[in-house]
Amino acid sequence: MCGIVGYIGNKDAYPIIINGLKRLEYRGYDSAGIALLSKDLRVYKKKGKVSDLESFLEDKDISGNIGIGHTRWATHGEPNDINAHPHSSMNGLFTLIHNGIIENYSRLKRRLEDRGYTFISQTDTEVLVNLIEYIYIKGSVSAEIAVRLALTKVVGAFGVVIMCKDEPDKLIAARKGSPLVIGIGDGEYLLASDATPIIEHTKSVIYMNDNDIAVIQKDSLSLKTLSNELLTPKIQQLDLEIDEIEKGGYEHYMLKEIFEQPRSIQDTFRGRVSLERKEITLGGLYEVLPKIIEAKRIIIVGCGTSWHAGLVGEYLIEEFARIPVEVEYASEFRYRNPIIYKDDVVIAISQSGETADTLAAIQMAKDCGAMVIGICNVVGSSIPRATHAGVYTHAGPEIGVASTKAFTAQVTVLTMMAILIGQKKGFIKDEDYNVLIEDLIDIPTKIEYILKNSELIEDISALYKNANNFLYLGRGFFFPVALEGALKLKEISYIHAEGYPAAEMKHGPIALIDEKMPIVVIATQDKTYEKIVSNIQEVKARKGIVIAIVTEGDTTIRDMADHVIEVPNCNEAFAPLLTVIPLQLLSYYIAVLRGCNVDQPRNLAKSVTVE
Ligand code: G6P
Repeated sequence: MCGIVGYIGNKDAYPIIINGLKRLEYRGYDSAGIALLSKDLRVYKKKGKVSDLESFLEDKDISGNIGIGHTRWATHGEPNDINAHPHSSMNGLFTLIHNGIIENYSRLKRRLEDRGYTFISQTDTEVLVNLIEYIYIKGSVSAEIAVRLALTKVVGAFGVVIMCKDEPDKLIAARKGSPLVIGIGDGEYLLASDATPIIEHTKSVIYMNDNDIAVIQKDSLSLKTLSNELLTPKIQQLDLEIDEIEKGGYEHYMLKEIFEQPRSIQDTFRGRVSLERKEITLGGLYEVLPKIIEAKRIIIVGCGTSWHAGLVGEYLIEEFARIPVEVEYASEFRYRNPIIYKDDVVIAISQSGETADTLAAIQMAKDCGAMVIGICNVVGSSIPRATHAGVYTHAGPEIGVASTKAFTAQVTVLTMMAILIGQKKGFIKDEDYNVLIEDLIDIPTKIEYILKNSELIEDISALYKNANNFLYLGRGFFFPVALEGALKLKEISYIHAEGYPAAEMKHGPIALIDEKMPIVVIATQDKTYEKIVSNIQEVKARKGIVIAIVTEGDTTIRDMADHVIEVPNCNEAFAPLLTVIPLQLLSYYIAVLRGCNVDQPRNLAKSVTVE
């Protein structure tokens, strides 16, 4: 949610910042802005994409070796030039960029108005920058102290980078709840919401923690807590290559990420599933495994696609490990006084590792004494640092806003966990364990087979690109896959779509079916196959259009469905990893054919760091 970039050093700041903003655009893209400092401080802001800002700046003065930039996902105030960041204080002494929400901004604003401050935007951020200036002038303190004091008065979340006109040789950065990474170059520093804008300049980084404040000059950095205790920065090396965050010849990140899945799942397996030793090992869970094995209940929390992965996890863990599982939207869980016992194990799933609701749910579970495990993709993000233990998905950077490879990586981790726990608890016999491992290792090759037939899915997409509604049906392991398929279509093509457990169709959605309604049915050969065949017949009896995802060689459904998309045969429990692929492709092609911006769908952001 909002992308932040800062630079201080000897180079021109503008190209570094504008390229960094392009890398961070997946976090928000309704307006962008930049502030550059040389002899004077110049602030440029524009509604729209980073490219609109770039065109606007073609004939402007973009000199300066210090600068900050921001790409916004609006919370307070509509997207327009004025509400775009950076925001400057009334007397022009401070300029800042902000990610997060200042929850008590109206109270602070009233107080500042009583003291003569006026505001030009509708943002909470403008309140913060004026509060800093007010304290700076009133208290005759340094910029650093003014920032620290102002931030102690703020309720909410922030990742901020601040420039002060009187102290033009420094950037001040602080975080609470919204991520910030500092890149350490040779005589230069970079700041960003995540490592993607930093990687082409340096691999040495410091992940700021909540309540940290950094004062950065081109050749020095001081890190403190907001209560003024000096900290020793922990420098880490990024394990990320530049080609991982580029499109690599694909038209969109989403398509690249869909096609990457055979490899990304192998990366999730790497070092964890061994065919030779016939063994699953999850190093991140090693110490806590006894507690998981003893757990009376597992609660899974997440949002969006990660919540869907959690639902697949429920089926997997109950099937293999025989531990009761509850899956909760993090946003509901945190606000409904849930019953959490000390011997519960909570699994928090998040691609970004930064989702505000998931972080709050983790804190709540920890406060109740439960052990919390993270399943995250972004290394070094907030959730892995807030949990007791965890497993990284290692799917590589996911830039497309609609999550694809992160979902299959999350499900892969949950599958490994479920089998591992089941085996340790004695529910899986040794010979079955070996077969499961062999089947799991085959999954990437089977996904390759599906991807090779993507043209068929593109052809089907062309037929239904103008539909107004879609229904997705699945049972058992495939009910969450149906939800995920519907979500993908909604997110990027703006077609209304609903996912339903196939048997529930009779209790409502069947009323929607007519000859214009495409119904995607996941109908692979598993224990509810006969039932889903009946569901397809119910749809056909009402003239609905059936697009069925079937097991390779299925002739029964071929005879009754309008279209079939085949996936290779595999263990039912692993088939979500296969059946979701055609649904990802279907939504992708439909969105492209409708002319939608697939990687940056309207109103959405990749990482939701606000409530
Ligand atoms: C946003 C993204 C979704 C994602 C969800 C949860 O809504 O657009 O793709 O599934 O957040 O994000 P997380 O990073 O916690 O998985």
